[in-house]
Parts: sequence; structure tokens; C-alpha cells
Amino acid sequence: MAAGRNKVTVVGAGNVGATAAHWIAAKELADVVLVDIVEGTPQGKCLDLAQAAPIDGFDVKLVGTNGYEETANSDVVIITAGLPRKPGMSRDDLLKTNSDIVGQVTEQVAKYSPNSIIIVVSNPLDAMAQVAFRRSGFPKNRVMGMAGVLDSARMRCFVAEELDVSVENVTCFVLGGHGDTMVPLPRYSTVAGIPITELIAKDKLDAIITRTANGGAEIVGLLKTGSAYYAPSLGAVEMTEAILKDKKKILPCAVFLEGEYGVSNLFVGVPVKLGKNGIEQIIEISLTNDERTALHKSAAAVQELVDILNV
Ligand code: LAC
Repeated sequence: MAAGRNKVTVVGAGNVGATAAHWIAAKELADVVLVDIVEGTPQGKCLDLAQAAPIDGFDVKLVGTNGYEETANSDVVIITAGLPRKPGMSRDDLLKTNSDIVGQVTEQVAKYSPNSIIIVVSNPLDAMAQVAFRRSGFPKNRVMGMAGVLDSARMRCFVAEELDVSVENVTCFVLGGHGDTMVPLPRYSTVAGIPITELIAKDKLDAIITRTANGGAEIVGLLKTGSAYYAPSLGAVEMTEAILKDKKKILPCAVFLEGEYGVSNLFVGVPVKLGKNGIEQIIEISLTNDERTALHKSAAAVQELVDILNV
């Protein structure tokens, strides 16, 4: 690796992992190691991406591999490994299968990159982040899950479309677990600083909130054989960029709470400040009773999964 260049490992060379590698390379953020158990897939995708480099002009090293030696001393590791639910599989089966996969991957990551920062993207997101946290033995500032960036991006997309304004003008706030109990907060969502509650009628806003909470399922319904990957991978890359560039960027991420928002010993999505040390601050905002109740309901849904896994 060239001195001074950052190094990011992406585990899982499926659509989310390969697209994350693509965004990282195209933004020239870091050298990338793409790992997958399927022989040839990470190698082939990295070779293809490396051949795109001269066209776009990015200078990063891309390595595809089936092992972890090449991942050594990564600054950031994005974990996308896991299976989608197959016919006949219960939610708990998937939970256990993916927890095994994420657990094994995390052990390798911790072994080869003991100082890395881990971003989990595998589902069920919040529970898988908790598995990675426990198995890595890393401090809580170095393990996080990507969901809030994706969920809020979906809401921003729908708000921008509704108001016919630039997506850049729209900021949206989504708390809670990544699932149908997520908690979009219109009060803290703005267009060029104006609360969206002043710009969008309640019925339209409610429809946007429902569509946001079902955002992943809407895409699965359309694709039929897979789930979303452009926005999920870019969500993880935005977090990676904030860390590598020490941007101190405030983003909604799944993090280990110890009393914040009245939630303890559990990964749930809240706004945090991301910089070179990973999670540098958990930002607590005031919530109405209804908002707090919704957040606790969402946390309870995550707790159920964590209890099954006993992590
Ligand atoms: C989604 C899935 C991938 O929200 O979690 O698209």
C-alpha cells in the first residue's frame, strides 16, 4: 500500500459490497480490499473496477480476495456479508445464520485490523451491529451500523420530490432501529432551514413517513430477487468518508447506547458525530412524549432480536 493512503476493507462482494467498493474508488477515498467467500467474485469485480480507473481517473489499489491477510491494518471495515431470507426460512433462522456469518467475519477483522472502525450493513442491522460489537471486543466508538443515513436519504428523496426542490436543500431526521418501527421526525426535518411541517400538509407527510419506513420493502418488491444497494452502499461510504477525513459530521447511525434516550446496552439509530475516532459524540435531542414512545417501541423490537441471540 502506498504510504499515507487510507485502506478500507469491504466484506461481502454482493451488490452492496461491490457498489460500496465502486463509490469508494470513484471518490478516491482509499485503497480497497474486497473480501468474499465465493472464489473469483471479489477478484473479478476488483479487476473490472480497476479497469474503470483509467476512464474515470481514480488512483486507488483494488484487491479482491477470499481471505483476510490482505485486509491487514485497514482503517475502516464495512461488513455487508449475510444471506437474504430464503423460502421456508423463519426470521429467527435468518437472524441466527447472519449472526454466525457476521460473528465469524468480525473475528477475522478484529484479528487483522485491531485498530479499525467497523461499519455494519448486514441485516437485521441493529442486531448485527451488536454482534460485531460483542465479537470484536472493540470499544463502542469503533463499531456502528449504517441505517439512518439510508432511511433519512429515502425520506429526503421523497420530500424533495413532493416539493420539487433540490435534494441538497432537504435534511431529514430518522431515529430508531432499521425496520418498520423506525421513527422519522418531521419536526427536525427541514428544507433550507424551514421545518417540513410548515411546507407539507399532514396527510402528504404521513404518506412520506410510511413510504420511508417501508423503503427497503418497496425496492425488494420491485427487484423481486434482491434488495436495495445503491443507496445502502453510499450510506456506508458517507460514514466512511466522515471518519477518514475526520469531518466531525453529524449523521444518524446505529450505535451502542448506555442510557442515552433512555435506552441501555442496545444498538439503536441516533444522531452521532463521526470523525477519525469513529463515534465522537452521541447527540441527544429533546423528544415529545409520542416521539419518545415511538423510539422505545423501536428499541424494544431490536431488543427482541438481541435477546434471541443473547448478545
Ligand atoms: C433496505 C434493506 C437493504 O432498507 O435493509 O433497503
